[in-house]
Amino acid sequence: MLSPQWLDELRARVTLSSVIMRTTKLQRAGREWKACCPFHNEKTPSFTVSDEKGFYHCFGCGAHGDVIRWMTDQRGLQFMDAVKELAQEAGLEVPAPDPRAAQQAEKRASLIDVTEASQRWFVEQLRGAEGARARDYLASRGFSNGVIREFGFGYAPDSKQAMGSGVGFEDAMLVESGMRIETEDGSKYDRFRDRLMLPIQDARGRVIAFGGRILDKRDGVAKYLNSPDTPLFDKGRTLYNLHRAGPASRQTGRIVVVEGYMDVIALANAGIEDAVAPLGTALTERQIEMLWRMVERPILCFDGDAAGQRAAMRAIQRALPLLRPAHSLGIVRLPAGLDPDDLINQRGAQAMEDILAKPGSLLDTLWQFERDAEPLDSPEAKAGLKARLMAHVDAIGDADIKALYRRELLDRFSDYAFPRREKAPWKPNGFSKSLASRPRPDPAAIRALQKTIQGGSRDALTGAVVAGLIRHPDQIDRHADALAEAAERDANIARAINPLLDMAEILEDGGELPISADSGRLAPPDRSHFSFLQEGTDPEDAREDLAEAVSLLVERPALETALAAATARFDTDPEGAFAEQQRLLKRKLDFEARLGQMASLQAARGQSDLGYTSQPEPAGEEKTD
Ligand code: UTP
Ligand code: MN
Repeated sequence: MLSPQWLDELRARVTLSSVIMRTTKLQRAGREWKACCPFHNEKTPSFTVSDEKGFYHCFGCGAHGDVIRWMTDQRGLQFMDAVKELAQEAGLEVPAPDPRAAQQAEKRASLIDVTEASQRWFVEQLRGAEGARARDYLASRGFSNGVIREFGFGYAPDSKQAMGSGVGFEDAMLVESGMRIETEDGSKYDRFRDRLMLPIQDARGRVIAFGGRILDKRDGVAKYLNSPDTPLFDKGRTLYNLHRAGPASRQTGRIVVVEGYMDVIALANAGIEDAVAPLGTALTERQIEMLWRMVERPILCFDGDAAGQRAAMRAIQRALPLLRPAHSLGIVRLPAGLDPDDLINQRGAQAMEDILAKPGSLLDTLWQFERDAEPLDSPEAKAGLKARLMAHVDAIGDADIKALYRRELLDRFSDYAFPRREKAPWKPNGFSKSLASRPRPDPAAIRALQKTIQGGSRDALTGAVVAGLIRHPDQIDRHADALAEAAERDANIARAINPLLDMAEILEDGGELPISADSGRLAPPDRSHFSFLQEGTDPEDAREDLAEAVSLLVERPALETALAAATARFDTDPEGAFAEQQRLLKRKLDFEARLGQMASLQAARGQSDLGYTSQPEPAGEEKTD
């Protein structure tokens, strides 16, 4: 095995651009190189090579990697061949494999011989005289012959001592591979007896374990029995059907996770080939990571009953700490009482496809689960709901996603726990009579607010939000938590928002302030382009646009923080940090587009008016080592 340190040494000794230049024409671009991307067809160059970082990256198609990836992906070499060729160039000796690792690999190889031989033997038994009942059972499930062969159904006969002579390996090997059980007194017997057998295969399609199903219900006998964990088989790191679903998912752009292997097979029988299943346990972190390597949003499919909902929540709780930008889970809930197998049998494959086409989001599922968990009939119950939601938020590892979840869940919580009261429409001019009797605000706070909304603040988005909230004060409550969050992250926002929050009570009554005898109200500048500051905007639209502006205000510092965190991670995880940085920069572009749209900028005005101009920097600007 090659150590990461040795691979780093190899990468450091080879100049990436000189390797790429052999097959692709590169042009200097500052400290980097540019070219038309060799991985996709293009006329203007979006492929960059950074020798400093040791990575190439295409902004067009996303092709990305180091010098070894270049050799495997562009030159088509096997990993070890690529390493050997590069090592020779660099004058490095490829280290001899570690003898212990080599021994373990050898042992696994010989155990695979045992499981593969067992598989052949089970298939033979299914065809033989003893397999008749198992064949009848299989026929009753309606699987096609092709599927029965492809998925390798077999039969373990009803005997405690059939495998030793049948499979032809010594007992110790049969025990170690999980096929036989050794008792304390040293006697041994076959693990699987009188069961329909299913091979469990690794990512390369090699048989590493088995699942066995009883043919008819008997008391005290588990319906399914799996191999134990062995040197070959680690339940938490295996997904059933991965070696077929992986290639299928590259066609469909989708991966579906169902509860059991029979569901996977039922789906395949109906032509849906991109499904996998865990092996009798809840989805592990490792399995979620495996799924994310295939698609950004795997679809988890659960029963519609309470148990299915709990299973969905368990999976969500596993996923929250792992979430990273653009990676999530889609959640599908089947009609109560039906598993995918039943659904296809009763309603057909198209019904299944229709359901898979509309997965719910992780956030929606989480929200609905907690919302419906208890009636919201007291302040204590409301506080309980809020606490449960925030506990989920706290479990999220990624700072950016965490901030966005907090904002969204708090927003839903406020809307749900405190439905908006109908208010009398705000009249734009004139003092309310009760003003004199209300408490007077701090004059310094008023000056700060005035400055913010008249453009003294560093950026126009903050100013617009503050002006918008002064104009629509009934919205302050709804956004208070989100605003406090933004203020916590950004001192400029804090300076503008805190006086507003302090004065929320006084503003409550219609956007006017008892400031002083000569300045009656806080007026937003009238040249503003935000809909919620314009006269005559439909109040519902104004509230929605204001909410969008608030969410942009919260998102911006969160994005900045996440970007800084990604940059800081370059030392320890260059490839991951780089990919994340690219994603975040793209989010920033999207963000700017939304902001631009929202403010409907006039052509003459640049985005700089909004105080948010940063363009994604070329990848080479960041220091990596
Ligand atoms: P189910 O009981 O829902 O079975 O268990 P199923 O998939 O619908 O199977 P059929 O249609 O009755 O044949 C779902 C999964 O839970 C695990 C298995 O992985 C199974 O596929 N399980 C279930 C066990 O490991 N042991 C059991 O005794 C039962
Ligand atoms: Mn079933």
